[in-house]
Parts: sequence; C-alpha cells; structure tokens
Amino acid sequence: EFKEDTVIVVFGASGDLAKKKTFPALFGLFREGFLSSSTRIIGYARSKLTEEELRTRIKPYFKTPTEKSKAQVDEFLKMVTYISGPYDTPEGYQKLNSTIEEYDAASKVKESHRLFYLALPPSVFTTVAANLKRYVHPGDKGIARIIIEKPFGHDLASAQALQKELAPLWSEDELYRIDHYLGKEMVKNLVPFRFANNFLSACWNNNFIKSIQISFKEPFGTEGRGGYFDSIGIIRDVMQNHLFQVLTLLMMERPVSFDAEAVRDEKVRLLKSIKPFDKDNVLVGQYTRSEDGSKPGYLDDETVKPGSKCVTFACLTLQVENERWQGVPVILRAGKALNEGKVEIRIQFRENSNGMFKDINRNELVIRIQPDEAMYMKMNTKVPGISNSIAVTELDLSYKSRYSNFYIPEAYESLIRDCLRGDHSNFVRDDELDISWSLFTPLLNYLEGPDAPTPQPYAYGSRGPAGLTDYLKRNGYVFQN
Ligand code: BG6
Repeated sequence: EFKEDTVIVVFGASGDLAKKKTFPALFGLFREGFLSSSTRIIGYARSKLTEEELRTRIKPYFKTPTEKSKAQVDEFLKMVTYISGPYDTPEGYQKLNSTIEEYDAASKVKESHRLFYLALPPSVFTTVAANLKRYVHPGDKGIARIIIEKPFGHDLASAQALQKELAPLWSEDELYRIDHYLGKEMVKNLVPFRFANNFLSACWNNNFIKSIQISFKEPFGTEGRGGYFDSIGIIRDVMQNHLFQVLTLLMMERPVSFDAEAVRDEKVRLLKSIKPFDKDNVLVGQYTRSEDGSKPGYLDDETVKPGSKCVTFACLTLQVENERWQGVPVILRAGKALNEGKVEIRIQFRENSNGMFKDINRNELVIRIQPDEAMYMKMNTKVPGISNSIAVTELDLSYKSRYSNFYIPEAYESLIRDCLRGDHSNFVRDDELDISWSLFTPLLNYLEGPDAPTPQPYAYGSRGPAGLTDYLKRNGYVFQN
C-alpha cells in the first residue's frame, strides 16, 4: 500500500482527460478523506502553463456538494504543482525526478512512493513509459506504479506490439490498465451480488436463463470528435472494453478467492470459452440527422471521411461454450445518438412451463449501471383485490431511495483508490486484452474491409436502426410489458 507521502504525477495534465476526470477524481478522494494533505500532486505536460494557470483550468470541474467541500478546494490546489517539459528528451524527467526527491527529503520518507498517471494519447505513451522507467523510477529505493488508459491497441497485432514495448519496462505488478467501467458502483457490485446470494447461484445457468443482453445507449453523437471516432467506431470504443468487462464479471465461474489474480483468472477462463463471433449475425448502424433537423448526422461532421461506413451503433450476439452457458445467447448492444442515455444488463429467465398460466411474462432481472443504479426483478403476481388476473410487477432495489445517504464514488475515484492500495482486481490484465482482441479483430476487419456491409441509418435521437426489434427477437430477447 502507498503511504501518506505518495507523489502522484499526472502526465498530460493540460489535456481534456486530466481536466475532466483525473484531477476531479483526485480532488474527490481528498474531499472524502481518502487522500491526505501530505500527498503531492505534480501535473506534467508540454504546454507552457504556470502553476496558477493549471489550477484555474482544473478547478471548475471539481464537485463541491457541501460548504465544507468548497473550502477544501484551495487546500487541495495547494498540493498541486506543475512541470512543463517535453515527452521525448531527458530534461523534463530529470527535473521531475529531482522535484520528487526534494519532496521526499522534506517529508523524510524512508521509501519513495510514486504513482504515474498517464492521461495521454497512445502516440506518446510508450515514450513516456520508457523515460519514466529510465529517469524517474525509484528502483530499489521505493515503489512505483503506472496507470494507463485505453486505447490498448487498435486490434490484436497492435495490442500485442504495445504490450511488447511495455512489458520489459513495467512489470504487470506495477502496471494498472484502466477500464473505467470497472470502477462503476454497479459493476463492482456484480461479484458480491452473484456470489453472496446463494439462491442466485442455483439459477445462474442455462437451465433457468434464456437470454442475456448488455446494452449501452448514449443520447449524444460524436460532435466535435468525429475525426477521432471515425477510425475507432462504437465496437472498439465501448464494446471490446467496457461491455466485455461487464460480461466477464457477470458470467465467470466463482473464483477460488476474491484476490485480484483469482478473479482475473476466472475472467480469462470465461473469455476463452467465447465462440468466434458470427459476422453474419451483426446489426450495424450509423446515425443520420435528427427527425426535426436540429441535430446533425454522423456524416455531416466535417472531420469525418465522406461516405464513411463507421459504425455508431452495433448489436452482436455471442455464445459462451461451457456447461453453464451453452445455448444462452448473449446480446451486446451499443449506440451513440440514441433516444436516451442508459447502460444496463437484462437477464431473461425461461418461461413457466407447467401450462397453468397462459400468456405470462418471463421473469427478467434488470441491473442498471447508469444512470441511477438499480436492480429490479420483473415478477408475475396476482392483481390485488377481487381480480384473479396476473400482472407484472417489480421487486425493486433502487439505490436512490435505499441508499440515499451513501456516497457513491465516481468510477475514477474508486479506481485510483484501488491503485493506491495496490489492488489490481479492477484493472485489466494483459491476457484479458489478448483474448478479447482476438475475438473482435476478425469482426472489425470485416466491418472495415472491402465487403463491409453499409450501416443501417437511424435518426439521431431514435432507438436505433429499424431492424433492431427484429434482431433482438431473433436472438432470444423478447420485449415485454
Ligand atoms: C469512453 C468512450 O470510453 O466511454 C466514450 O470513449 C464514451 O465514447 C464513454 O462516451 C462512456 O463512459 P460513461 O462513463 O459516460 O458511460
């Protein structure tokens, strides 16, 4: 575990990710008492900013729900300093190293504890990782950890190439690959929910479960970042990483213990049981202008290649070939510019087969990751009163009402805290990446190759392409009231 006098260095400090996520998360940890005022935070980037300018930039993004927290802002900002330097030559790193050594000397620490957070684009992150190792790693005089952010490659070959560059520099033990979905409260709840409730274990299999759907819906398009998104697409952007992480935690076997390696071993085993995707059973879409004309279509973005077939909506159905899940379709669905923002898991159970009740609904467990964390189970019950008819109602655990006085951390707060504690459970291991990229690469090659299907159009703000309901039905998910 890192001690109080840890030095945290945020690379890419002047960029968007640092401003919107990393610094606010560090402030959040400080506000909630998880980071002491003896922690030193150094921003590092190429931009020539003064310390004051950096502070002014990041401050508006801090969450200050109480009077006390407003007062904490200045206290926190005093912990933040800035170094401007290049990424590719030694000078900046040497300066960084001597600054950290001065801090360590001032606080008389025996061991130097250093956390490097790389909020950087992939084009520079191996250079920075290499220079950090060379000039700023404390060696045997302390401990260092490094946090990196996606993209971890673009396909299997590039992910492996990246890994090959990083592995000799930073051991798997020092490396923390963030997938921020693993820091979301409801995703963190999947393991306890599944394995601490015995009745669930009995029905968590193909005897009882008919289909699973994991869906990601966003109400906005790629406005302003179309050029970047065009070479990525929705499958790389959220499916290969975020939705796959949710899937493995939802479907893996019980780990032998809950330590990080045991959990990640089970995730890997699950990933290895996924059959190659059926590329002919995917539904892909691209959004067009909203019906009222107020929102632009994907191709209206000038930074997007004219005629681009980039996929902004996708549905695919996969199969897990093991005893537990054989025959249960798992639908992954993700889209931008839809009618709402929502991420949820839907598990439909087999219908009652004894013939006593006609036309009743399947039980359905919904785990809502966001917004407003909730879990509810659709149940068939008698309509109260004189009536004998049956209707669907819900056993409902909504966090807003049940846990209204709990603080639910932001995903990044939760993950940085894990990293400070040295807990790898909620970070991505190299072998997870390998397997997920080997599953997705053939599909991506097809969707980006000469025989790529033309994505089906859907209007900005709609539910998705016209074929969606049919697709879901064909693949085992039925809409119910
Ligand atoms: C990111 C994607 O990884 O996740 C974005 O690059 C997406 O395109 C975002 O908007 C979604 O994260 P969240 O936490 O808002 O659901």
